[in-house]
Amino acid sequence: MAVMIKVTDTIKSSEITPKDVYLNRRKFMQQTMAGSLLFASGAWLPAWAKQWPDLSVSTYSSHDKINSFKDITSYNNFYEFGTSKQDPARQAKSFNPRPWSIRVSGECDKTGDYDIDDFLKPVGLQEYIYRLRCVEGWSMVIPWVGFSLAEMLKGFQPNSKAKYVEFTTLLDKSHMPGQKRRVLHWPYVEGLRMDEALHPLPIMAVGLYGELLPNQNGAPIRLIVPWKYGFKSIKSIVKIRFTETQPETTWHMTNPREYGFYANVNPHVDHPRWSQKKERVIGESFWKPKRATQMFNGYAEQVAHLYTGMDLKKYF
Ligand code: MTE
Repeated sequence: MAVMIKVTDTIKSSEITPKDVYLNRRKFMQQTMAGSLLFASGAWLPAWAKQWPDLSVSTYSSHDKINSFKDITSYNNFYEFGTSKQDPARQAKSFNPRPWSIRVSGECDKTGDYDIDDFLKPVGLQEYIYRLRCVEGWSMVIPWVGFSLAEMLKGFQPNSKAKYVEFTTLLDKSHMPGQKRRVLHWPYVEGLRMDEALHPLPIMAVGLYGELLPNQNGAPIRLIVPWKYGFKSIKSIVKIRFTETQPETTWHMTNPREYGFYANVNPHVDHPRWSQKKERVIGESFWKPKRATQMFNGYAEQVAHLYTGMDLKKYF
């Protein structure tokens, strides 16, 4: 299914375009492209990361102000590395996300163990600027580098019994110190209905800001589902399983009253402990009024049909 690319472990920061140059260039591209897509050449250089500033920008991208690299990499939820927002950046420093493989199992024809670098199909890599809206009531806008989840899943040839897909994070107490505490059911698991997973919006992210994904953001590969609360976007994935029945999810197992399977961003359905009508935008002044949360995080036009006839108060 995939074209092998070589990942060099030794990309110097000096080889990567400085972020201000990168951002200006990306802005320029967005302005001049006028909605048309530039496709990556498909011919990979060994120093593949150098190409990232030239990636096309997904047409689904947000036009809102992008958060700083610092905000995105120092205010994180990654309980495997601790429960405070600063813990992941501190505690994941020595985590080594290579070598890395993903086990694919369940209702599909192409089960097996796949090296992560087999997944990185050059022609599929794009930049996706998505707002991550956390159920805790804050959000930020992140320029991810990734590829279509749907395209990857189709490559495993799911069969007619595959109604859901389940994702699992690495379980490794020696390198993920947060797993020594029983704050959550480990390993972290998440799931999507197949029609949600096959929608063009969700991505597998392998980078952000034109660089390899930092450990605290879920290196080497994580899910991003832009119309759902951040907890669906599971990090550091080692297993993908196609199932006939709805899989359990970590937050639902931990507190079923507060966290459902769907977790669609919905300002009309409050979390039992806090309202979901507004959100604080990370990086903005504390005095600035909060932003009104949008239905499906702004993607109602694209995804509302997936839930036709469903009571979203019941299926939260
Ligand atoms: N994935 C794992 N494995 N462990 C986690 O604790 N936290 C989730 C999600 N994915 C989490 C996870 C939550 S609650 C949020 S809001 C997002 O990751 C945060 O992603 P970010 O730190 O890259 O902004």
